Amino acid sequence: MTTTVFSGLKPTGSLHLGNYLGAIRQMIDLQDDPTTACRYAVVDLHSLTVEHDPRRLSELTLELAGLLIACGVDPDRSVLFVQSQVPAHAELAYLMEATVAFGELRRMIQFREKAGAQDRVRAALLTYPALMAADILAYDTDLVTVGEDQCQHLELARTLAHRFNGRYGETFVVPAGVHPAHVARVMDLVDPTRKMGKTSTSSVGVISLLDPPRVVERKIGRATTDGDRVVRYAPDEKPGVSSLLAVLGALTGTHPVPLAESYQSYVALKRDVAAAVIALLEPVQRTYAQIRDDGDLDVVLRDGAGRARQLAGPTLERAHRAIGLAPAA
Ligand code: AMP
Ligand code: TRP
Repeated sequence: MTTTVFSGLKPTGSLHLGNYLGAIRQMIDLQDDPTTACRYAVVDLHSLTVEHDPRRLSELTLELAGLLIACGVDPDRSVLFVQSQVPAHAELAYLMEATVAFGELRRMIQFREKAGAQDRVRAALLTYPALMAADILAYDTDLVTVGEDQCQHLELARTLAHRFNGRYGETFVVPAGVHPAHVARVMDLVDPTRKMGKTSTSSVGVISLLDPPRVVERKIGRATTDGDRVVRYAPDEKPGVSSLLAVLGALTGTHPVPLAESYQSYVALKRDVAAAVIALLEPVQRTYAQIRDDGDLDVVLRDGAGRARQLAGPTLERAHRAIGLAPAA
């Protein structure tokens, strides 16, 4: 039995170490499992839910796709594509909007947080979870890999699949979520009480997957620690040191508690964290440069979109029929 896996990443900024340890590494592990069939999308439509720069969006989309390949997503084994190139997503999203209630969307934590911070809220920010449900359900997905911040949206996708099936007859597979087992919410290096994020106000606390080695060394060297100089894993008391230990633990496959015992100083810890991060990024950056130089990323993505259309088409047709729309001749 094959397990169908889906995940989507938004091209809203450069990918960082948190994205790698929190999402991408798991996507690659799942791809490498012989019992899965993975569909990975650069979900560019989701970037339109908040202010965006139209001149940068397509470049960020290509950068994200190229980096996913450089990190190990294999476009032969996984279907890698750009969401907007597969019209079934937006079409199925409309059927999801007709399935979800306004109150359910309005209650989503992410909507409330993001809408509260803006003057003009795009309607697409409210309907975002309907599109996310469509992304997932279009592929008869069994497993969705997402970070914890997306649990509520995933739960809604499951609710909508159940509701649609209950009202209109068995149409969608109800997906389950998988969250990375060991990680590693990677914290901002400057403010270790906040998550490392694409839209952090300052880039000093964020390690981009494209940061050159010198920049990585500098950022980690200046990472916020504390004054007591004892290397100990205690996320609440010592968030900065603990986050460094968590990163090194995730990269070396060691638990941060025993790892802490092998360090006498912050300097030594930082040196090893920097070396491990550089060792991770160096081959990724080399492969990424090659991919962008080759210039056939467009071809790879066009091929992925073609395969995704083939997969999503029948699901959309099934949903149309079930909900009562007249079939196309
Ligand atoms: P985002 O960058 O917020 O679009 O998130 C893309 C994916 O990366 C999601 O699965 C997130 O849960 C994961 N992610 C984002 N930031 C972090 C972080 N600092 N630590 C761990 N995972 C993260
Ligand atoms: N909403 C997700 C995020 O912000 C991205 C996303 C869109 C996604 N569609 C998805 C993730 C489908 C998993 C499955 O990170």
